[in-house]
Amino acid sequence: MARIGLTGLGTMGAALALNIAEKGYPIAVHNRSTERTRAFLDEAGPLAEAITATESFEALAGALETPRAVIAMVPAGDPVDAVIEGLLPHLEKGDLIIDAGNANFHDTRRREADLARQGFNFIGMGVSGGEDGARHGPSIMVGGPAESYAPIEEIVEAIAARYKDEPCAAHLGPDGAGHFVKTVHNGIEYADMQLIAEVYGMLRDGQGRAPGQIAELFAEWNGGPLHSYLVEISAAVLAAKDPETKRPMVEMIVDAAGQKGTGRWTLIEALTLGQSATAIEAAVAARSWSAAREARAAGAEILAAPEGKCHPVLDSDLEEALLAARIIGYAQGMALLAAASEEYEWGLDLARIAEIWRAGCIIRSALLDDIASAVREGLPHGQLIFAPRFVGRLAEGMPALRRVVTCGLAAGLPMPAMAAAIGFYDTMRTARGTTDLIQAQRDFFGAHGFARIDGGEGHHGPW
Ligand code: 6PG
Repeated sequence: MARIGLTGLGTMGAALALNIAEKGYPIAVHNRSTERTRAFLDEAGPLAEAITATESFEALAGALETPRAVIAMVPAGDPVDAVIEGLLPHLEKGDLIIDAGNANFHDTRRREADLARQGFNFIGMGVSGGEDGARHGPSIMVGGPAESYAPIEEIVEAIAARYKDEPCAAHLGPDGAGHFVKTVHNGIEYADMQLIAEVYGMLRDGQGRAPGQIAELFAEWNGGPLHSYLVEISAAVLAAKDPETKRPMVEMIVDAAGQKGTGRWTLIEALTLGQSATAIEAAVAARSWSAAREARAAGAEILAAPEGKCHPVLDSDLEEALLAARIIGYAQGMALLAAASEEYEWGLDLARIAEIWRAGCIIRSALLDDIASAVREGLPHGQLIFAPRFVGRLAEGMPALRRVVTCGLAAGLPMPAMAAAIGFYDTMRTARGTTDLIQAQRDFFGAHGFARIDGGEGHHGPW
């Protein structure tokens, strides 16, 4: 009998199944199309011995030890409900379904509650690390009842990435906590990718550097404080050549970015919770505008470009600017996690989250160890940017970030995420802001009332 089941043998599901089999856990697999299941078994090589291929939900359930545990690795949304509906008649009370896709955490909350009412267990498990991570060790963010997780904890920890021998997997809270954390992880991922792309834009369009030269610079940075998976792969893709034309591969790629929704969900939740993740918002917006290719091509003809030129920006300034903006991207994500934890009473351990992001996931970076320590030491007013170990780093990096953005703006290079990072930093260090005027305007046109600095609410101005 197999110890665990998995349905959905797409790229991620297949990789995760092989990872589980390789760690010594017999696994039963299933896919909607049986051809894919057969092809998967062929690809599995010697690991096929630990794999039972099944051709129906009934057979999948029948191949499992009880109480059963089945991972669903299918696209978020209706396919997850379809799997649940298909599996349920073949399961017994106390069996467990694990949604390992990028689900919206509201769906996870609903599914967990629905299934609990019927006597079944359900876990929402965020898995990060792409295909390679899923195959050799992803970062795993688990949400759901702790009792439901207990029977599979050993397997999850065995397949997870390791940071200094510690598994990058944790049970983070009830119901949708795991999928929410994964969503915010992706929001931070969007911001970080956009920041790197903005630096690439300044080097390419502001300084006329070739992809190969930018690749070398990124590779060098990856040896320093910017060390991270995303900087590493950016160097690798910039160095790659198109086999057909022999030109740099990036030059052959259409500049319209895809998005499956997790970045947008991060923003929706941020706004709902009264937060504002502006660096992530800039990144999502940049992807959305990237899709308007024809309009942008027309805009290049219609709209006036600034007279100014981009002065040569020092490479060291760009490196420091990227680091400072990256810290702010993480800080906005962390603040959102804290707000959601309070709203949904999840008791999220932010330090633990930073720890399980140190290896395996897409946003893994040298910074995360420091972020984990900073959170453990306590964040003044809940703000990572106020943490003693980040105040000094930002004081050093912000002047470089200002120089880079000033230059980019003068030359008309779009740098929305970098500019948003500065806006957040300056807002948070402005004790007396400018919303006194907004309150006055609101009172003027709508008699909304304002609080006076010398006391009392609901005052009106002499307008
Ligand atoms: C990960 C990635 C992964 C996936 C995203 C990409 O953590 O492994 O985030 O989940 O690559 O879904 O999202 P977009 O298609 O929206 O860029």
